[in-house]
Amino acid sequence: MKSPIRFALLFLLPAVSYGGEAPEHTEPAHASGVEALSPDLRELLSQEMQALQKGMISIIPAYSSGNWGEIETTARKIKNSYILKQKLTPSQAKELHSVLPPAFIEKDQWFHYLAGMLEHAAKNKKPELVNFYFSEMNRSCIGCHSAFATHKFPALLQKKEDEEHSHTH
Ligand code: HEC
Repeated sequence: MKSPIRFALLFLLPAVSYGGEAPEHTEPAHASGVEALSPDLRELLSQEMQALQKGMISIIPAYSSGNWGEIETTARKIKNSYILKQKLTPSQAKELHSVLPPAFIEKDQWFHYLAGMLEHAAKNKKPELVNFYFSEMNRSCIGCHSAFATHKFPALLQKKEDEEHSHTH
C-alpha cells in the first residue's frame, strides 16, 4: 500500500488527561464535537477513516492466506501512525484538543491498543488471536461510530444504548 495508514489523528493528544467516563447518555448523539471541527480537520479525519478502512479490508485476504507478516505490518501502521501529527499545525492540534471530548480520545486509544495486540498476535503467528483482535477492532469501529458518528451512520443510532452497556471503552 503506498500511502501509510494514518489513523492516529487523535492520538496526537497523548497528554490529555482523562477524567473518567464522559456522561455520553446526557449528550445528543451528534454533540460529539466532530461536526464542529473545522473543514480541514474534518477532511483529515475522513481521510484517516478511509485509510483505516482500507487497511482493515486488506487484512481479510492476508488472514485467509496466512500472510501474518502483512497483517503485522498493517497493524503496526495503524498502531503507530503519527504522520498526521507532523502535518498538523499547532493551532489544529489545539483545536482537536478542545473540540473532541475525552471519551472520543479514549475510544481512539483503545482502538490503537487493539491494533498493537493484533500486531503482536500476527507476529506470533497465532490465527485465533489474530481473528480475536481483528474482531475486537471491528467492535471498536462500531463502538465509536455509535457514540460519535451517527450523523454519518444513522443506522447505528439504535445501537447506542446497547453499546453503552457492553464495554468498548
Ligand atoms: C475513536 C472513534 C472512531 C473509531 C475507533 C473509528 N472511527 Fe470511523 N469515524 C469516526 C467518526 C467521528 C466519523 C465521522 C467523521 C465525520 O463525520 O467527519 C467516522 C467516519 C468513518 C468513515 C467515513 C469516512 C468518510 O467521511 O468517508 C469510515 C469509512 C470509517 N469511519 C471507518 C472506520 C473503521 C473501518 C473503523 C474501525 C476499523 C473506524 N472507522 C473506527 C470515528 C471513529
